[in-house]
Amino acid sequence: MMDENIIWQPAKVDHQERCERLGQKSLVVWLTGLSGSGKSTIAMEVEKRLFAMGKIAYVLDGDNVRHGINAGLGFTKEERTENIRRVTEVAKLFEDAGLITLVSFITPFQEMRDKAKEKIGADRFLEVYVKADFEVCASRDPKGLYKKDIKNFTGKESPYEIPNNPDIILDTENDDVETCVTQLLDAILKKI
Ligand code: ADX
Repeated sequence: MMDENIIWQPAKVDHQERCERLGQKSLVVWLTGLSGSGKSTIAMEVEKRLFAMGKIAYVLDGDNVRHGINAGLGFTKEERTENIRRVTEVAKLFEDAGLITLVSFITPFQEMRDKAKEKIGADRFLEVYVKADFEVCASRDPKGLYKKDIKNFTGKESPYEIPNNPDIILDTENDDVETCVTQLLDAILKKI
């Protein structure tokens, strides 16, 4: 709720100056896909490559953020919506600071992704669908979650809406990690 006694304070360093100092343009790279599709693997590797190139990137990862700022939020639609609302706000702050932010969250609903894009601004936002079917993710099961009986698990009780119109599709069923990382890195380098 917005309080009339809370007044926005203008900064004395602007966004452009921050980006110039960092030698890059800011960008929010939003990876969406099922648990086990490869979002974190790709995001962490892309961050490493950007860092090696002298760029400043940062990964906001669903599992990690849920240990901290979003600890206490579960997996109902309402809680996931709040999870994504908060991470959208954090990504917007990082974007303002001039960073290249890789957001790695399932983000199962199109409305969440559309809102994030609107909030960040379409020009500074890349929607990346990390594509692997439920059966493939279940057979990989890197965290051993698919074999458990978890309430509201995405792809089981809880839906995953396939992105309508992503900027990039990374097909982790058919392409190896290196191919996906290179594809994403190339797209990022065109925007920064
Ligand atoms: S989101 O739907 O709100 O975007 P988020 O990316 O933050 O999800 O968290 C997903 C991670 O939480 C999964 O990778 C998995 O490790 C873990 N997890 C725990 N419970 C669930 C669940 N019910 N559905 C999906 N992922 C879950």
